[in-house]
Amino acid sequence: MIFWRVKPLDAILATAESKSLHRSLGVWQLTLLGVGAIIGTGIFVLTAEAAQKAGPGMLISFVVAGFVCAVAALCYSELSSMVPVSGSAYTYSYAVLGELVAWMVGWALVLEYAVASSAVAVGWSGYFVGLLRHSFGLDLPAALTAGPYAGGVINLPAVVVCLLVTGLLAIGTKESAAVNAVLVAIKIGALATFTVLALPMIEAHNFQPFLPAGLPGAMAAAASIFFAYVGFDAVSTAAEETRNPQRNVPLGLISSLGLCTVFYLLVAAGAIGAVGAQPVLDASGQPLPPGSLALAGQCRQLAEAGQQPLVCSREALAQVLRQIGWPQVGNLIGLAAFLALPSVILMMLFGQTRIFFVMARDGLLPEALSRIHPRFKTPHVVTLVTGCAVTLAAAFLPVGKLADISNSGTLFAFTVVALAVMILRVRDKHRARPFRTPAIWLIGPLAVGGCILLFLSLPSDAKLVFPIWGAIGLCIYFLYGYRHSHVALGIYLPAGGEDLIGELRSLAKPKEEGFLPTPESVTPRGGNDSRGGVN
Ligand code: ALA
Repeated sequence: MIFWRVKPLDAILATAESKSLHRSLGVWQLTLLGVGAIIGTGIFVLTAEAAQKAGPGMLISFVVAGFVCAVAALCYSELSSMVPVSGSAYTYSYAVLGELVAWMVGWALVLEYAVASSAVAVGWSGYFVGLLRHSFGLDLPAALTAGPYAGGVINLPAVVVCLLVTGLLAIGTKESAAVNAVLVAIKIGALATFTVLALPMIEAHNFQPFLPAGLPGAMAAAASIFFAYVGFDAVSTAAEETRNPQRNVPLGLISSLGLCTVFYLLVAAGAIGAVGAQPVLDASGQPLPPGSLALAGQCRQLAEAGQQPLVCSREALAQVLRQIGWPQVGNLIGLAAFLALPSVILMMLFGQTRIFFVMARDGLLPEALSRIHPRFKTPHVVTLVTGCAVTLAAAFLPVGKLADISNSGTLFAFTVVALAVMILRVRDKHRARPFRTPAIWLIGPLAVGGCILLFLSLPSDAKLVFPIWGAIGLCIYFLYGYRHSHVALGIYLPAGGEDLIGELRSLAKPKEEGFLPTPESVTPRGGNDSRGGVN
């Protein structure tokens, strides 16, 4: 039943071939693209949350989350080399597992991208507030810098950055290759500086007790810190703009992930070893949940007593450097996060609008969502709707909760991709696979099992959000998408769609301008011309 309405791979490939974009990206640019999307709030902010859950044992959490992402990336690589077109997990699922699963993956990706944008915005806000305080001596009122979860009213800086990024996207701003390269250099420079200054300060006793909350604590932290690795799939979405994608996409995925993993482990070890990373405990000796009023209260008391544990910090890396005698460099790290994190919000929000856009193009969502602005040539409706939702979430929710919710959607999408690779190995053995996942019957199950394990290690509320979100998605699919699906109707485009495609085509730009696909690039991928593709 779930294998109905499969969009044939050949149709998708033929369409991509006939309308392909200029292929300009090589391994180096793809790696930069990946690192640009990966390094963000996860390492700059969530390190403190991971420490609150696992203590020094968060080192294990970084390894576990990195390992799950690595095996998932190997699966992504096989599919993206076989189907070197834009659209990521949604496209792959449509071709392998059919429309219903593709819809669920697209719906889960909405959760991934949109909620991740909010999380990064809240993370950015922490560094912004710290930068104002430490560099300019300005203190914003506490009520305006955090939501009710920490005794505040609204996280105003997060609101402002979300609205700014939404506005930029609506008028057609795309991150250019040059800007991305500069921001990646800033982020890598910041992490490298941190490592060089913090590692020599390591003291063995700071690693004791290593697992104050046991292995379950380390797994819970792994499920959260997984967020730090999310974004590598941005590489596969650029497949259509990549030279020799069969070779370069898998290499780009793996090298960006590998580079980030090395930095993350060094940074985490430096932070733990230099200042300690013990959780703040409740009366029964259990770590208080990050993002809770109880923890915020305890942290306030500790601050009044002159203590600044890492787990209480909203700008973890900057604080560590201040504590080990490098206040100015700490402020510079804050400046780096302030400058670089908005680009992660931009990429995530862009990814989100693109997913909605593709789904609308396939007839699974109302076409109005993919309406193009006559002047800016952007999908402004979906951008504004998404931007408002992202802003609301950032205004009132804590960074850790947002990251956990985002992770739940991402883990679902990764699971489906790994399943799709294995299913295709059986169902379509002879299709050319320029990149073959090594030992697929080991790596595939490890990816599926790892994602399920991490999902189960998420806090209960994040685990609950996913089925609720999924149920809403299923209702929308059966009320709308099921009946309007272009694959089911065997049509190219909805009425008037040719104009839309014409407008989208006109968006094609010289690829040197940017890494991110223009909205136009999603059109062929949708494979709307898979006439007769209904199985
Ligand atoms: N990996 C990205 C971050 O940590 C989403 O911000």
